[in-house]
Amino acid sequence: MTASAPRSTRSAIALPSYREQSPAVAAHLAAIRARPVVLTVGSVGRVFDGPQGPVTALSQIEFEVHQRELISVIGPSGCGKSTLIRIVAGLESCTEGAVLLDGQPVAGPGPERGMVFQSYTLFPWLTVKRNVMFGPTVKGLSRAVAEHKALEWLEVVGLSKFADHYPNQLSGGMKQRVAIARALANEPRILLMDEPFGALDAQTRCSMQDHLLRICASVDVTVLFITHDLDEAIHLSDRIVVLGAHPGRVLEVIEVPVPRPRSSEQFLSGPFLATKARLEELIHGQGSGSDDFAAA
Ligand SMILES: Nc1ncnc2c1ncn2[C@@H]1O[C@H](COP(=O)(O)OP(=O)(O)OP(=O)(O)O)[C@@H](O)[C@H]1O
Ligand SMILES: [Mg+2]
Repeated sequence: MTASAPRSTRSAIALPSYREQSPAVAAHLAAIRARPVVLTVGSVGRVFDGPQGPVTALSQIEFEVHQRELISVIGPSGCGKSTLIRIVAGLESCTEGAVLLDGQPVAGPGPERGMVFQSYTLFPWLTVKRNVMFGPTVKGLSRAVAEHKALEWLEVVGLSKFADHYPNQLSGGMKQRVAIARALANEPRILLMDEPFGALDAQTRCSMQDHLLRICASVDVTVLFITHDLDEAIHLSDRIVVLGAHPGRVLEVIEVPVPRPRSSEQFLSGPFLATKARLEELIHGQGSGSDDFAAA
């Protein structure tokens, strides 16, 4: 479905403003704003020591994520997306500002933050079910309870039939669904996804996006999603944080005016194209990294 939208939306077609929201969209976004804040990214900065001196990867990054919100971060290669999500995961520290989870400062990794990366990170020597049981077992749940939970989550991602398979017997998309089930089995407060579908072919990617939308509609989960695919960001998100590069900074936070439930037919709708045009304007206007978005 990502392939169905035109490559550039800067055309003569008269589009609505991307700020224009139907009553249903406005009500959906207001309901999200009324929910508690799960994640606060507060003036986060990160400076690395590079071979030619300090490199400011992130500067003054500021936004909040509310419960059951799906928020995407997009931006050109090297703008600091992975650095940001690693800081939120507690795998990296910030040199300025702070990240709060439910109001508490993040000081290291924790099971309340589930991580799904682009590369497949399943344990190859464990079956699918055992991979998903891993977190609950480490948490101290009995084997029977962990197994019950694992089977429930495998059902959610549509892989019940593959519980006893090993990762090398699965396709890339299936492996990523197991990775999502494994992250969800820890019942995280927030799911952190760094280009999780980036290595998949276009068709599998579309089906994974639909899987994620279905999971978000049925489960109490909050998602921070990194991508550089504009269509993917619009299709999935409630809001999109657009980062510029050098240093990585917030250019705009966009409320996506596309109504839910989302479907592939919406890729050519006015609100979708208007949002895409605004994203392209921000990214091209910035004059860097635009090639990264051409394939989106
Ligand atoms: N450990 C490190 N040491 C030094 N510089 C680093 C380190 N990690 C990241 N950087 C630099 O920080 C900047 C942001 O990198 P990051 O990987 O976060 O970008 P990104 O937006 O995720 O890129 P991509 O879209 O290619 O994944 C880059 O300039 C990178 O070279
Ligand atoms: Mg990255």
